[in-house]
Amino acid sequence: MSLPPEEQDEAREENMLIQTLRPQSFKEYIGQEVTKNNLDVAIAAAKIRQESLEHILIHGPAGIGKTTLAYIIAKEMRANLRVTSGPAIEKVGDLAAILTNLEAGDFLFIDEVHRLSKLIEEVLYPAMESRSLDIVLGKGTGARTIQLPLPPFTLVAATTRIGLLSAPLRSRFGSTFRLEFYTQKEIEDILDRSAKILNIPLTPKARARLAAASRATPRVANRLLKRCRDLAQVEGRASIDEEIVMKSLAMLEIDEVGLDAQDRKILKVLIERFNGGPAGIQAIAASSAEEEETILEVFEPYLLRLGFLTRTPRGRMVTKIAWQHLGFNPPPENPEEPQNEQLL
Ligand code: ADE
Repeated sequence: MSLPPEEQDEAREENMLIQTLRPQSFKEYIGQEVTKNNLDVAIAAAKIRQESLEHILIHGPAGIGKTTLAYIIAKEMRANLRVTSGPAIEKVGDLAAILTNLEAGDFLFIDEVHRLSKLIEEVLYPAMESRSLDIVLGKGTGARTIQLPLPPFTLVAATTRIGLLSAPLRSRFGSTFRLEFYTQKEIEDILDRSAKILNIPLTPKARARLAAASRATPRVANRLLKRCRDLAQVEGRASIDEEIVMKSLAMLEIDEVGLDAQDRKILKVLIERFNGGPAGIQAIAASSAEEEETILEVFEPYLLRLGFLTRTPRGRMVTKIAWQHLGFNPPPENPEEPQNEQLL
């Protein structure tokens, strides 16, 4: 899938930004204490035993630092990290090429691992379990399998959709970590660190506003910080203050809790066409002209976290606070209000 040129530029710029601001060690990595502590011990133990680490699965919302963690793990083990993703591995041959090019001790990072095809998953199992690449040559009665030994390596796989992973794949990881949304304080600390690296002062009020609009997500926080820095420089300001933040957010159509035009559209569709729900994900996708996948991976996790959306056995529902946030009067007696409804 190739993007139009402007979007390619944007993606390139964003990648450069991520590289500059990416923490290089656990010390620099803010938040996710449980995961960090567990990984720290696992790494120290593997180093003492001079073994490679067991395969690691990291899951959690988009932009929350899964790739960054993979880089840090490899770096702490003083090993190379090879990076690929589920959608990039289209054929068994693609995976075979990657695996046979690994060197002893290498880390292989597969992002969006839930998008690997069944066929490719099946090649991955023996590679993970017994470091062997089993390739079927030929078809029908003449088919035979050859087994190629692989060097010791560690797979670090990441996914935003743990529920889509097959049980056999999940069971082959030595440890699984769930990354959580960040607290306001953690995002503020990340913004402070990034502002220092970008060499632009950020006032405490500006920082608090920015953090609140960052969807509890470092990638969003850093992106917004960069937009604010652009505006401050264009307006000849030496620092990012609250006024610059509010103006930047308004220009980006992002509100004080971090909702953008698409988030609001999804909530509005639910309110106006479904009277707040419950509505199925397919119906919401069709009515809001968004991909189902995008709603599930990008919009919904933060709306759930804000408490603007709930999931019930009969579909998604907008909560009272979301009606009010969008300037609607919530229905006085909504029989579907999920207070007593079992949440999924
Ligand atoms: N930049 C992006 N994610 C970060 C994190 N978790 N800690 C510090 N800086 C970051």
